[in-house]
Amino acid sequence: MNSKNPILFLMVLLVLNCSNRDDDPISQPDPNAKITYDANVKNIIGGNCLQCHGNPTANGAPFSLTTYTQVKDRIDIILTRINSSSSPMPPTGQMPFGNRDIIQKWKNDGLLEN
Ligand code: HEC
Repeated sequence: MNSKNPILFLMVLLVLNCSNRDDDPISQPDPNAKITYDANVKNIIGGNCLQCHGNPTANGAPFSLTTYTQVKDRIDIILTRINSSSSPMPPTGQMPFGNRDIIQKWKNDGLLEN
């Protein structure tokens, strides 16, 4: 048996383990705390939307989502599109449920900034 094989196997495992998906759900917030833009929502938008809905916008996105007010003012259409299966946002496909749930709870909690 080739003595290099176990090492190769470990390297493959390491590489697989390290592959980082940027749509991984961010850690879930404390269920007793209210959801806020600063603590919970901003990072989700930053990681999944701003490459198009930045300032300036890119790739044909119709508006920026870079500030609290911009996100708050569009909450209903944002919820519709992040949960849409036929025309989701981001366009590459729905985010994990955990992320979408945080944005829904943010609305339920009153769209707090911080
Ligand atoms: C790859 C670029 C890209 C990303 C990433 C992206 N969008 Fe968009 N978004 C677009 C484009 C282009 C449009 C206009 C076409 C359309 O409505 O499908 C759009 C439209 C929208 C609209 C308008 C819908 C309407 O009917 O007026 C909303 C709301 C939206 N995006 C929210 C988001 C949110 C929230 C995220 C992140 C979770 C996101 N988008 C990520 C490109 C993107």
